[in-house]
Amino acid sequence: MSIGHSTEMRIKMEQLQPGMFIRLDEGWFGHPFLFNRFKIKNRAQIDSLKKSGITEVYYIPEKSDCLPLPLEEGKVKPKTPPVPATPPEEDPVIQLLWQIKKDRIGRLKEKRENLRKCTDNYNATIKDIPNIMGKMVAGSKEAVNNAKTIVSNLAGKFLSDTDAIMHLMTVKETEESIYYHSLNVSVLALMLGAKAKLNPTELHDLGVGALFHDLGKTRIDNKVLKKTPPLTRAEQSLIHLHPRYGVEIAAKTNAFPSSAALVIMQHHEQYDGNGYPNLLKGEKISKLARITSIVNTYDNLCNNADPQRAMSPYQALSHMYTKCQNALDLELLLLFIRCLGIYPPGTAVLLSNGVLALVMSVNPKNPLKPSLMLYDPDVPKGEAVIFDMEDEPEVTIERNLRPDKLSPEVCSYFNYTGGANYFVENMKGPGKTR
Ligand SMILES: [Fe+2]
Repeated sequence: MSIGHSTEMRIKMEQLQPGMFIRLDEGWFGHPFLFNRFKIKNRAQIDSLKKSGITEVYYIPEKSDCLPLPLEEGKVKPKTPPVPATPPEEDPVIQLLWQIKKDRIGRLKEKRENLRKCTDNYNATIKDIPNIMGKMVAGSKEAVNNAKTIVSNLAGKFLSDTDAIMHLMTVKETEESIYYHSLNVSVLALMLGAKAKLNPTELHDLGVGALFHDLGKTRIDNKVLKKTPPLTRAEQSLIHLHPRYGVEIAAKTNAFPSSAALVIMQHHEQYDGNGYPNLLKGEKISKLARITSIVNTYDNLCNNADPQRAMSPYQALSHMYTKCQNALDLELLLLFIRCLGIYPPGTAVLLSNGVLALVMSVNPKNPLKPSLMLYDPDVPKGEAVIFDMEDEPEVTIERNLRPDKLSPEVCSYFNYTGGANYFVENMKGPGKTR
């Protein structure tokens, strides 16, 4: 069964009991609770619901652990009066809930603004990449300078005193996908490089090398590049030439940093010596190339050209940890997992209160508390609630969901087309993650 469909029935407040999954009918701004839909945890929550002035809610059977209590026919006065003695707006608990909610609404606006700014910057940057790649292939020094400007901008966000927030960018699979990949690898490499405490020069060279890591593929026939495996031995050998080709192209500019060229040459070398083209082992591979190799592997797993074979970010990290430990620098891999958290942006999750959500952004300094977009068909798509996990410590992630288990409605609500492309923005103001 796909997740996201439900049937529901309207019930009275006296029918509520812990374990029931309910939906509030007042709209997100019309009640003081963080969620429009949730599973009732305890009696205190039922009391708060009653005190808030709500008289009826919708009960969602398939997400509930129990049935509603029966309505007692002809009963003049229920044991617990549905209308509180204190008017809702004066009850101290409800007042506190409203105050907390107002703070959240303020932070929600900040987060939306941050995400919008990040998306605008991403779109402006991605627009420049094909032109820069074209100029690089022509051996233009200007391309290197253009790339340095992009990287310097991004590196500055990671080197800033303000927290760098990694946001999920939703992109459509197009002919330009190779540019998404280049930029994604560069952004992720910068995140990991900053966490690995590279100095600013190393960090800039890493970003430039990562941006052009697959430059040599421009010399290889698209038919071979896009062929679904298995490849013939000749095709394999041809693909294995792309690191060398890339270095040759970069050298023509006479302005390409040497450690960035090493990234291009060594990004397919493996820590256990089974990579290519020079079968280098361990620390014989430059640290910048080892970083690029990790983020390149991650991006290839998440953004596979064949959507059937693409993994969710959560699955990709698990796969890398269990299956690629020998091929990658384990210390850097663990650092990468620590940056992105167990549930990286782009992972669909089910929360402990039964609500479905998509991980939207992560602060690499506090990766266990990502921000999530909540699925709630009662809240319009463009106004979806972004929920900060540190706001509600009691709500935890129960499990990750396979992307193919999400219903088309949920995917459309999240604008989720699969894959995991990232861009970074510094968080300022009251919404700054603590
Ligand atoms: Fe490559």
